[in-house]
Amino acid sequence: MKIRRVCEDDRKVLRVIAFGILEPLYGDQSKALHEWISGEGFKYAFALVSKNNEVAGFLSLKANPANLYLKISTLLIFDGHKKLGYGKKLLAKAIHVAEELGFKKIKVTVSDSKQESLNFFTHADFIIVDKKLGKYRQDATEIILEMEVI
Ligand SMILES: CC(C)(COP(=O)(O)OP(=O)(O)OC[C@H]1O[C@@H](n2cnc3c(N)ncnc32)[C@H](O)[C@@H]1OP(=O)(O)O)[C@@H](O)C(=O)NCCC(=O)NCCS
Repeated sequence: MKIRRVCEDDRKVLRVIAFGILEPLYGDQSKALHEWISGEGFKYAFALVSKNNEVAGFLSLKANPANLYLKISTLLIFDGHKKLGYGKKLLAKAIHVAEELGFKKIKVTVSDSKQESLNFFTHADFIIVDKKLGKYRQDATEIILEMEVI
């Protein structure tokens, strides 16, 4: 498995992530999809790919210098590839990017319906710093976690 920036060839799988997985949780993802592929704005998007170029995971980061922290917008491993250390590999990539760009903190927002992700991030030493009801969807609570980058 290797991690590389996403490219135009990934559009099909990125559409599945944007419209199949993220849109029901966070609303319209057309702008995000465009930014991942074009690299415009403050978005960095990476694919975790196997030797035969199958996408097994996805990481998108938002590095807005006005925020003093790097934000993990999405960290996702597809079914069939979970529990093999790949989520950890993508998290290590996020930490590496934070270090390169000089961010001292990484933040992530996880819907409280995503227990799997919450457990993953708390296991990786992220600390819950806030909870917000209705941030993206009126009926959902979002949990905000952060970790210090040493
Ligand atoms: C959460 C997720 C990223 C974890 O990825 P993964 O590749 O299965 O995790 P890893 O194998 O890298 O595990 C890393 C560590 O976290 C732990 N871990 C992973 N999933 C866990 C869970 N659900 N509960 C507790 N610990 C967990 C592992 O035991 C491992 O611990 P270790 O470092 O002590 O060995 C993955 O399950 C996922 O993408 N889930 C879906 C998330 C989703 O639907 N997101 C949509 C909105 S963004």
